[in-house]
This record gives sequence, structure tokens and C-alpha cells, in this order.
Amino acid sequence: MITMDNIIREGNPTLRARAKAVSFPMSAGQKQLAHEMMEFLENSQNSELAEKYKLRAGVGLAAPQVDVSIRMTAVLVPDENDKPLFKHILVNPTILSESVKMAALSEGEGCLSVDRDIPGYVPRHDRITLRWYDLDGNKHVDKLRDYPAIVCQHEIDHLNGVLFFDHINKKNPFNVDENTVILG
Ligand code: CO
Repeated sequence: MITMDNIIREGNPTLRARAKAVSFPMSAGQKQLAHEMMEFLENSQNSELAEKYKLRAGVGLAAPQVDVSIRMTAVLVPDENDKPLFKHILVNPTILSESVKMAALSEGEGCLSVDRDIPGYVPRHDRITLRWYDLDGNKHVDKLRDYPAIVCQHEIDHLNGVLFFDHINKKNPFNVDENTVILG
């Protein structure tokens, strides 16, 4: 199983690389990795298991974060009752369209690969249309908004070598333009 020991941290060049597209059919090893990434997110959101295995809670984990530079990410966004709101392994995800309206989380963002708090608003597109493939190569197109849209943009950034703090205004971390709503 994946634990924090398997997750690489900022400074590792894999986190700054553009990951390679996955080709279908996926290998058994790639599918196994996908399931382990989702298992990590499930475990990390279970307080008992998180404590037992010393896991930081996460809502997304991208393959480059476990040092595998392929375009695949697990996303597990729970709703307010801890039921999965958006739970998918996204293979070769692409944003087809995005709103002009931007959104940022009031708490800022964190990342399993970043061991420090970096305050500031991270502007994201409030709504996106996302195309992705599942492990069997079936195409999906989803319209997402607000928190699930933000999580997916954070994860897709990992496939392009981008980290959340790259988006924070350096001079004034809590400065955003008039197109941006603050969520939460
Ligand atoms: Co991250």
C-alpha cells in the first residue's frame, strides 16, 4: 500500500516534469498503481487508518507524486456526509473548456508533496468541462464546478509539473482579480 513514505516532495524533479500520456490497453502494473492511489485517498480520509499509518488526508493523488511520470490521477472528493461526491481515477484528463469566472478556496490549498503551509489564494477556473478516460479506456466528459473543479485542476497541474503555489500572487498572496470568488 502507498504511505507518505512513497510520496515524493517538492524539490524532486519528477514533480516539475510534464508526465507522459497513458496508452491503452493499460498495463497490469499501471492499473494496480491506480487502485493503490485510490486506496491511499480512502485510507487517508479514514481517521482510524490515517492515524495508524500516519497519513495526511488528501482528496487527490497524481501518479507523478509517487514518482511515476504518467498522466493519471486519483480524485476522491467527499460530500458533507462523507459520501463520495466525485470519485474517479482520471487517465489522460484534459480540460476542454473553462469559465472566465475564477474561484479560490478561502483556506488556500495544500498538497501531499508540500510539507509546509503556504498561505494565499490559488485562483482556479470556477467551472470546467473535463474529458478523461477510465482504466478500460472509456471516454468520459464531466462538467464540474467549485470544489471538485478546483481539486481536478490541482491534480492536472501535477501532470504538467505545476504546483499550487505557482498560482499565488507573489507580492500580495491574498490579492485576486474581480473575476474571482472566494469559496468556503
Ligand atoms: Co498536490
